[in-house]
Amino acid sequence: MKFTRFIFAFAIGILLWSCTNTSESDLIEQVEPEDIITYTEHIKPIYENNCINCHSNPAINGASMPFTTLSELRNSIENTDHIDRINRQPGEGGFMPLGGTRLPQVSIDLIEQWQSEGFAE
Ligand code: HEC
Repeated sequence: MKFTRFIFAFAIGILLWSCTNTSESDLIEQVEPEDIITYTEHIKPIYENNCINCHSNPAINGASMPFTTLSELRNSIENTDHIDRINRQPGEGGFMPLGGTRLPQVSIDLIEQWQSEGFAE
């Protein structure tokens, strides 16, 4: 009886040890590369399709600033009501893209995630 209990405790011990002993390769596998939002892969295409026909460099059609590079875009997101404007509804004052349709929510979420992750290239 005592021996069975010993074996049982031993087995539990092995189980706990193997759970906490996470190897480095386990950790690397858990981080999916596509979890990081990058300017080149995710963000640039959104702006090319929806914004740079006015927010070119130099900006045209009365637009105030260009969004053709990471630093131009980052500057706008950090220093203007950029995120707020893309979250407005068409017809509301300041809505962007001006005269266009609202960005898909998934694109808005990507831009906000990119901002919160620190504007990865
Ligand atoms: C049809 C032209 C046009 C398009 C397309 C357009 N904009 Fe604009 N944008 C303007 C104009 C004109 C202004 C200046 C008037 C104003 O502030 O509303 C402006 C101003 C802005 C500002 C304010 C910048 C500042 O100086 O404070 C932001 C932010 C902005 N746009 C974001 C966007 C984003 C993001 C997109 C794409 C999703 C976009 N715009 C698409 C014409 C456009």
